[in-house]
Amino acid sequence: MKYLIANWKMSIYNAQIDQFFKDFKRSQFPLNITYGVSVPSVYLQKTALTLKKNGWLAGGQNVAFAESGAYTGENSAKMLKEVGADFCLVGHSERRTYFNEDNQTINKKINRLLNNDIKPLLCIGETLQEYENKQTKKVLLKQLKECLCDIKDVSNIIIAYEPVWAIGTGKTASVKDIKTNIQYIKQVLQKKFGKTVPVLYGGSVKPGMSADIFKIDCVDGALVGGASLNCADFLGIAKDM
Ligand code: PGA
Repeated sequence: MKYLIANWKMSIYNAQIDQFFKDFKRSQFPLNITYGVSVPSVYLQKTALTLKKNGWLAGGQNVAFAESGAYTGENSAKMLKEVGADFCLVGHSERRTYFNEDNQTINKKINRLLNNDIKPLLCIGETLQEYENKQTKKVLLKQLKECLCDIKDVSNIIIAYEPVWAIGTGKTASVKDIKTNIQYIKQVLQKKFGKTVPVLYGGSVKPGMSADIFKIDCVDGALVGGASLNCADFLGIAKDM
């Protein structure tokens, strides 16, 4: 089963959400793909209802590292669950960069989500400097080891390999690099947990060019930012799968 997951980031308002679903009604999304949308938390409850009615998964974009209590401005995993989250992004590079999230915090968030029966969609990937210094595998290994340090069972986790330099830049990683790095992630998981999980690619995925990425046998789908805001673009990517 392939996954196609939208990440609406902080780029969408009520009017665009309504437009997305209006277009969605007239669209024929291919079957045999698991679809999901990561929604800003203020719109999650209303959006989750429509998504679920159509068999799509509803997701959060962030979760508090703590279970509950005096954490002004945060949303706990239990709150996300109550408003319909099936999955939630963790470790997105924008959270790591702008909110100083480290692997230890991400690990706590993964635990909170698993305890509340929400699938973590863990994002990992190297920066441009790390890529140029040929440190990609080292970075991926560290992120996987630290983010999943005390996790006993990875069955409910999904991973997205997102090179930081490819996110929102219009540059995608090469087929060769995507293949090498996703194979590597799967090897690490296999060694540590005796099993592997779905691994998606993310970073400037657009309709048309995405077909080359989905031809890579180890790629289990995509996490899409910019091109997921418009239903026609998102459908174009689904048709590439
Ligand atoms: P992008 O974003 O598709 O706009 O590069 C991907 C992501 O941030 O998950």
